[in-house]
Amino acid sequence: MQCSARSLAESRSKLVRVEIRVSPSVLNADLATLASEIARIPGADSVHLDVMDNHFVPNMTFGLPVVQSLRAHTTLPMDVHLMIDNADRWAPGFAEIGCESVTFHVEASENPVALARILRALGSRAAAAFKPETRLEDYLPLIEEVDMLLIMTVEPGFGGQPFLTSMLRKIEKARKLIDALGKDIWIQVDGGIHDDTVAQAAQAGANVFVAGSAAFYSNDPDKVVARLRSLAQAAVEA
Ligand code: DX5
Ligand code: ZN
Repeated sequence: MQCSARSLAESRSKLVRVEIRVSPSVLNADLATLASEIARIPGADSVHLDVMDNHFVPNMTFGLPVVQSLRAHTTLPMDVHLMIDNADRWAPGFAEIGCESVTFHVEASENPVALARILRALGSRAAAAFKPETRLEDYLPLIEEVDMLLIMTVEPGFGGQPFLTSMLRKIEKARKLIDALGKDIWIQVDGGIHDDTVAQAAQAGANVFVAGSAAFYSNDPDKVVARLRSLAQAAVEA
């Protein structure tokens, strides 16, 4: 029996698609008590740490020493999102201190393929981030060199912005590119992920959901994590 192209694509997509994961961002948590804020999300799949330098984005947060200190305070995998210039200089240090996933923005590296290889050689997952205006097509050779693509669904820099629905097509495109490679590459979405947007992003092909304000503006961030995960799961199973 011959399968239609559509059912083939669907079954391959199911095979390749990894589990749904939620990675709360502490950007809008109480930054003075980061370790205890992270302790409020024991059910998360990882903790998303936004490093900003006021050059790559117009905001500044914390850097390597703070992330290194946090390492001793949580067993959650650390999902570091570097919104900094000169990623080639700084990103490997985050892998060296034991961050499980290190994401750099493609424009911030002189040689993104080389940087991804370095991060992986250091034992970290490597991820490439794309701002809303940055085209996947301009970085095709990089895609098979990373473990995750981060599709920004807001302009990077601040929490609490509305989800850009125009990014749904880009997520779909990323999923198609990954399926064509037949590789287990995750798609993370970051920005404006709430109850009403997580399903759309999941249906478009994302499987890792960063939630900043949705999680930490809530009294029970761990409950939000579980809810977002089940909403995303339901959306892909529908
Ligand atoms: C923004 C950061 C996000 C931020 C998301 O540039 O990369 O991780 O915390 O915040 P929300 O979920 O509130 O949009
Ligand atoms: Zn982020």
